[in-house]
Amino acid sequence: MPGPITPAQIRRLEKAARAAATTSYSPYSKFRVGAAVLTGSGRVFSGCNVENASFGLCNCAERTAIFSAAAAGERRIRAVVVYTPTAAPTMPCGACRQVINEFGPDARVISVCDSTARRETTLPELLPGAFGPGDLLKG
Ligand code: THU
Repeated sequence: MPGPITPAQIRRLEKAARAAATTSYSPYSKFRVGAAVLTGSGRVFSGCNVENASFGLCNCAERTAIFSAAAAGERRIRAVVVYTPTAAPTMPCGACRQVINEFGPDARVISVCDSTARRETTLPELLPGAFGPGDLLKG
């Protein structure tokens, strides 16, 4: 879907991210996170964090949403909205920034929380000089 991302699309992403947090599987951290992504075709995919008794295998909400989009055949991420149950907005972790870069090197990244505070930035700002698909098999 060409053209700029509309305020209505952002609102839809935010709603989906907040809704996704309600199914968070986070018995260890008790930190219930939700995320939603807007794909190149205009579809919205959401996800929550999914933890594991082997703590290192916990998966963030952002990656759940992105992997769900990728599994549906989507290959472009235009925007990511993440909701955390905090008073101030928080930014995606380093691992999620790298995964966002794979499909959305120019993606908008918007963080929302339990207050009206929000933060909006871009992936290049969060992950400057990212290693990506274009760096493989060079020369
Ligand atoms: N988490 C996310 O899902 N996304 C973030 O942006 C921050 C952290 C999850 C991972 C883990 O399940 C819990 O929050 C505590 O780190």
